[in-house]
Amino acid sequence: MFKGEAMLNWEDPIGQLRQRQTPEPVKAMLATEMLQAVERAERETLAPSPVETLGVAAPAPVAQAAAATGLEQVEFGARRLVVDDKAMINCRADLNQLVPFKYKWAWQKYLNACANHWMPQEINMNADIALWKSRDGLTDDERQIIKRNLGFFSTADSLVANNLVLAVYRHITNPECRQYLLRQAFEEALHTHAYQYCVESLGLDEAEIFNMYREIPAVHDKASWAMRFTESLGDPTFSTGTPAADQRLLRDLIAFYVIFEGIFFYVGFVQVLSMGRRNKMTGVAEQFQYILRDESMHMNFGIDVINQIKVENPHLWTEQFQRQIIDLIHESIELEIKYAQDTMPRGILGLNANMFEEYLHYIANRRCAQIGLPEQFPGATNPFPWMSEVIDLKKEKNFFETRVTEYQTGGALSWD
Ligand SMILES: [Fe+2]
Ligand SMILES: [Fe+2]
Repeated sequence: MFKGEAMLNWEDPIGQLRQRQTPEPVKAMLATEMLQAVERAERETLAPSPVETLGVAAPAPVAQAAAATGLEQVEFGARRLVVDDKAMINCRADLNQLVPFKYKWAWQKYLNACANHWMPQEINMNADIALWKSRDGLTDDERQIIKRNLGFFSTADSLVANNLVLAVYRHITNPECRQYLLRQAFEEALHTHAYQYCVESLGLDEAEIFNMYREIPAVHDKASWAMRFTESLGDPTFSTGTPAADQRLLRDLIAFYVIFEGIFFYVGFVQVLSMGRRNKMTGVAEQFQYILRDESMHMNFGIDVINQIKVENPHLWTEQFQRQIIDLIHESIELEIKYAQDTMPRGILGLNANMFEEYLHYIANRRCAQIGLPEQFPGATNPFPWMSEVIDLKKEKNFFETRVTEYQTGGALSWD
């Protein structure tokens, strides 16, 4: 566990996860601010939202004024910003002032992420290159696992980065969260770099790998599922500020942080990391191990943002909305099971597709608990308990006995 990081662990009991879901108390709006919001709403016209409101009970009165972007004129002599001016979405206060912090957990995650800086070229790929070129060092099934996962992830991380920069960032109206989003966006660039570095090191056909999301159905289906949830936020005419639009933002955040990064990445992580545990493709596995550490933090950040939006806007979390999210989780589990079958049509390395189904049910239960939804697959257990140790890297310093996987930046790597 990183210093100061409230990262969830696979071993946390689900009850404990539920208790973590109320990050900050809702701040009441001052009457004068309310009046200003109404006045501003009368002056400003919001773009109509094409999305139907999902059973919204009581729209918040603040939702009528346009949110700040950070690109407004600098108002000379304006009242100084105070912490209660800040909000996760639909904030109308200056977004260019990082402090005073309201969401200290977001700032802490930014610091933790910076302390975990790494670069793909630091990982030695020599053993992988020799193994990949050897005639019988790897079976065809093992080669398929490596290629399919490089194929899925190489474009998936670009998709996540584009979603952050072109869709999500604009609508999260809090500077400390934006600071983390900027760091996350850079990490996504590093991940795409890592996959490209693996492809180049192993001498794979780059066109085959980078086109898989357009040519291999199981890879394509996951990517195209996610596209639905970035298109709307990326639409320049879309803005938050109505209950329907705010629900759309919340839904799309859940689709990316909880499902895309929190479910769609995990079959691939297990497959590649199992190869590493068996001393095969240890360089690729180590790249994935660093990426998993980052991804685990991305997901936890996203979950905290989602839960904070729920706390500040309880009217969005309707029964109908929750039903919609549960349906999305079921849909995504089906796609990920198909992906497991496609990447691993036969059993391999003590793994088989049925174990992945059980694992995905276990993960889905955790994801539901993390955002306050009921468990969907009661009794599901984790067939890969070693994954929790990979995520909690402190226990894993000598995992591949190659190098330390947790280090602090500041110029030097620390080696054990
Ligand atoms: Fe990533
Ligand atoms: Fe990520």
